[in-house]
Amino acid sequence: MLFDFELIKSVYEKMPERVNKARNVLGKPLTLSEKILYSHLSVEEKGEKFERGVDYVNFAPDRVAMQDATAQMALLQFMNAGKPKVAVPSTVHCDHLIQASIGAEKDLADAKDQNNEVYNFLESVSNKYGIGFWKPGAGIIHQVVLENYAFPGGMMIGTDSHTVNAGGLGMVAIGVGGADAVDVMAGMPWELKMPKLIGVKLTGKLSGWVSPKDVILKVAGILTVKGGTGAIVEYFGEGADAMSCTGKGTICNMGAEIGATTSIFGYDQNMSNYLRHTGREQVADLADVVMEHLRSDEEVYQNPEKYYDQLIEINLSEIEPYINGPFTPDLAHDLSSFAKAVKENDYPQTLEVGLIGSCTNSSYEDLSRAASLAKQAKDKNLKVKAEFVVTPGSELVRYTTERDGILKEFEDIGGVIMANACGPCIGQWKRHTDDPTRKNSIITSFNRNFAKRNDGNPNTHGFVASPELVTAMAIAGDLCFNPMTDTLVNEDGVEVKLDEPTGLEFPPNGFDMKDSGYLAPQANGSEVVVDVKEDSERLQLLAPFGEWDGSDYKGLSLLIKAKGKCTTDHISMAGPWLRFRGHLDNISNNMLIGAVNYFNEETNSIFNPVSGSYDEVPATARALKAQGVGSIVVGDENYGEGSSREHAAMEPRHLGVKAVIVRSFARIHETNLKKQGVLALTFADKADYDKIQEKDQIDIIGLTDFTPGTPLTLVVTHEDGTSDSIVANHSYNNVQIEWFKAGSALNLIRKQNK
Ligand code: F3S
Repeated sequence: MLFDFELIKSVYEKMPERVNKARNVLGKPLTLSEKILYSHLSVEEKGEKFERGVDYVNFAPDRVAMQDATAQMALLQFMNAGKPKVAVPSTVHCDHLIQASIGAEKDLADAKDQNNEVYNFLESVSNKYGIGFWKPGAGIIHQVVLENYAFPGGMMIGTDSHTVNAGGLGMVAIGVGGADAVDVMAGMPWELKMPKLIGVKLTGKLSGWVSPKDVILKVAGILTVKGGTGAIVEYFGEGADAMSCTGKGTICNMGAEIGATTSIFGYDQNMSNYLRHTGREQVADLADVVMEHLRSDEEVYQNPEKYYDQLIEINLSEIEPYINGPFTPDLAHDLSSFAKAVKENDYPQTLEVGLIGSCTNSSYEDLSRAASLAKQAKDKNLKVKAEFVVTPGSELVRYTTERDGILKEFEDIGGVIMANACGPCIGQWKRHTDDPTRKNSIITSFNRNFAKRNDGNPNTHGFVASPELVTAMAIAGDLCFNPMTDTLVNEDGVEVKLDEPTGLEFPPNGFDMKDSGYLAPQANGSEVVVDVKEDSERLQLLAPFGEWDGSDYKGLSLLIKAKGKCTTDHISMAGPWLRFRGHLDNISNNMLIGAVNYFNEETNSIFNPVSGSYDEVPATARALKAQGVGSIVVGDENYGEGSSREHAAMEPRHLGVKAVIVRSFARIHETNLKKQGVLALTFADKADYDKIQEKDQIDIIGLTDFTPGTPLTLVVTHEDGTSDSIVANHSYNNVQIEWFKAGSALNLIRKQNK
């Protein structure tokens, strides 16, 4: 048994009382999200009522999942928390570092070879701290979580944006940065702004070519990539209840593409069936007993307009299949109008590759429906025109679909089965093309299709659709093909039509596999030695950051005054730097190299006060640090927006940046800076941003009396000897001030654990 039965039991035991209490406090019927959130408050409810979209709340999630790219820094940090074991059940999944090239076996062997030290580190650190480890090839994090760990009414966080996939099994599941995972694994509360709620009522029934994927592709068209920001999207209605659990997972997965905090469905018979088919009868039995708490109150379903901040209604009997793209997942085209859009926008009409699978769409149902089309192509003597690539989501699905002849249907039409991993979905795809400069089209059943996402080629137009539609389009090799109305000419010169796809929700002979790829941690990992080589270029053990020395900061040098947009990508770029995610010193060589220097409007070119000439940002920071001089970064509005990656806060801390002062912060980055011990300040008067000059020396006064609500003062001395006094606001509370004094939140946790 991989799931934590006792934990789930205790969540369900406490739930009725907590839900009733919350209902009394809020004085209204509750939605499902409210039930789950209020029963996961980190401190037992004191009758507090939190305003949606306004109040920050501390939660106690039930579990943590990490993928191999983000787990590295999360676990390097956790090692410094002074804890012998993780406080909640946690898992690591090796799925992102496997490159898809020629097929599962060879690709997996190559990945093990190339990433050997990273895998060894993750395996040993998991073993030491009581974390479940899923080896490379075991599957994609979100599919494995759905099959093994997700449970209705639970709350989890994961260091990947598509953690939200577990909403398909009725869980509040949220994607976060590594530092948040460390907090939860160390037993600390986890903070989130109480989300707003968007209700999506699904009426009617899916049929024919239409699948759950088309529902989320339509929703993405309605809400756009930003429409779900700060909200949980709750799906309900007869159309929701009639949908398979894995179909619900697909919809929740792509909630990340509309910016939603997460998405969720209420517990129903299909979820119960899925739990039972995946070896979790005991969980289903428990969930059945508390079913009323795992769905919204009936009054919410009857009058949803009164309880959601926004309500959308979709009749599943009326929608068509969708194809979204290129370059953004919210550019929705229904199938009937897609060919016209291809022509009008001059999208490359020849389809070069169709790709199915990924964490979004690789259930047994998905693959069996797609295989029904592959079989038709063979039976109807159709030559498949495009390349066809399949990435199963887990070993459970791969083994079972191989046993049931489904993978053979794909191979019979020329399909290549890749490893159970992210592969082309995250750009880990060694695509074999004769001319990468050619404008070209691919279609995938994945979730994201931003430029360069799949193959790193800006000329590739990526479209997203259901696995069955991807398969039909790959057979035709033509983006203008509409399988609902058009015919194809087969090898005998005869016109043939593809019938509607058919498939099975569950394998008739049950799921099976030989080796799940799971390694349970030792009961007592205290003797386990974590494997990190001194000279590794990819991994580096973290030394704790130094404590605050008890005095005001004096004589800080301005490092960079960033102009305009400065996201976490500008602060810590991705792309080739992903390789150094586990090595703080090496990845720090990308610090702020994307930020625009206010004084010369260039990137990665700033005045280096040590050499007296222009230099790169990381080199300048290193030169100042070597002289024992602290530095300060100045930024504009919404500084640090984007992802929650903690590297954007750890790198400045590592390279001697003492403070960041901006016109305004993106909240998550501000908190990350505080956690890493960098002072996060805002100009009380935004116009003071203009007073900062290139060669300024800055003192920060007031730290010895650092208290919540009391501003600090910046004394800015300019090159000509004149100076300005600038009021700097902060949003530190008492605990966060202790983080600052200890040198980082982790240092404080470690101290407390001693
Ligand atoms: Fe992996 Fe793509 Fe999902 S990168 S986790 S398969 S979104």
